[in-house]
Amino acid sequence: MHNVRKINDDLYYIGSSSRRVALFENVYPIPYGASYNSYFVDGDETLLFDTIDKSLSEIFFENLSYCLKGRKLDYMIINHIEPDHSSMIQCVVEKYPDVKIICNQKTKQMLYQFFEFDFDIEGNFKIIKEGDKITISNHEYTFIMAPMVHWPEAMVTYDITKKILYSADAFGSFGALDGNLFDCNIDFNERIDEYRRYYTNIVGKYGLQVNNLLKKASSVQIDMICPLHGLILKENIPLMIDKYMHWANYEPEIKSVLIAYASVYGSTENASEILASKLSDLGVKNIKMYDVSKTHPSYILADAFKYSHIVIASSTYNNNIFVNMDNFLSDIVKHNLQNRCFAIIENGSWAPCAANCAKAKLEALLGTKFIGDILTVKSSLKKSQESDIDKLAKDIFNSLK
Ligand SMILES: Cc1cc2nc3c(=O)[nH]c(=O)nc-3n(C[C@H](O)[C@H](O)[C@H](O)COP(=O)(O)O)c2cc1C
Ligand SMILES: [Fe+2]
Ligand SMILES: [Fe+2]
Repeated sequence: MHNVRKINDDLYYIGSSSRRVALFENVYPIPYGASYNSYFVDGDETLLFDTIDKSLSEIFFENLSYCLKGRKLDYMIINHIEPDHSSMIQCVVEKYPDVKIICNQKTKQMLYQFFEFDFDIEGNFKIIKEGDKITISNHEYTFIMAPMVHWPEAMVTYDITKKILYSADAFGSFGALDGNLFDCNIDFNERIDEYRRYYTNIVGKYGLQVNNLLKKASSVQIDMICPLHGLILKENIPLMIDKYMHWANYEPEIKSVLIAYASVYGSTENASEILASKLSDLGVKNIKMYDVSKTHPSYILADAFKYSHIVIASSTYNNNIFVNMDNFLSDIVKHNLQNRCFAIIENGSWAPCAANCAKAKLEALLGTKFIGDILTVKSSLKKSQESDIDKLAKDIFNSLK
């Protein structure tokens, strides 16, 4: 049976959610599942916005046929060709061979990269460019290119008539819908962490490109955002735009301290705990600590985008920094994090060098500021070092002001 949801007079949700896959893109844990969204506009002519993941093909076609009610599909707009949205395109075209495929030139090229069609589909394409306008049924649509948000061909479609932005992966989130279709159907603030984790990990590297998209989209009034993952946004559009501005500009959301530590035997962990307590005693609120060997880096990266100050505490490992810390630092660097204040604690039993390894990586980031002196622990933190750790806590505290 179908599971089509009515959004407004002629717009329908025909996507679906899944909790079967453990890892999104085979890397990011999705404990709350994920939704793959697709939209159908039911007018004199029929229009489909993107498709969904292969694993949900049955419900997708059930939904699409239910909406079509025996009619043929006239148009399909492809905003994003990544397989979590495009994997049904070939089946759609083979099932509805007259469908007009509305997309940009790059999307067309990539479509042929992903699929081999049994018949010539050259005549199916209607290639559009930024700013082109198309009227389908009684809606006028225009297109805004969003290159590298987060793929080169990505674009968003704006329904001028209804003031709806079909935003591709932008403004999406991890998490199945659980029956909730709109942001106003849930306590939205509870979801921000998953929005942040989705954004920072998937799109975080491309702040410049996101800024370009935000700038272009700011010239139009947006009453509703229909993303390819997560809830349809109506009430929280200003909040999400504010979050995107922070994330795209690598501006922290809060002035507080995130402590990421790597510890084999527990001494570095202990030093991190002591520093955290001292920071709290000084009045720092919302301190967060992660063991990089325990928590998936996607969660720590998300908080690295949220926090202004990051303490890196790591034991030395094979004349380098501990392996999971190395991975986390590489993740930060690859995601282009900027404008953060870092403090460093290192540990080693014969030749500690974790701090220099961390510094070398973090120096590559724009706007990095190092706070306080490097605290070197030789196997375990000594009473004689209390003044050093006190000073580090104070230096961090002072730089938060
Ligand atoms: C596989 C392995 C490699 C290590 N390599 C080094 C090293 O190159 N230099 C060093 O000073 N200590 C090295 N150590 C020792 C630890 O860094 C040191 O014992 C440290 O105090 C551990 O801190 P922890 O209690 O937080 O785990 C190594 C330890 C292990 C298990
Ligand atoms: Fe994508
Ligand atoms: Fe996606």
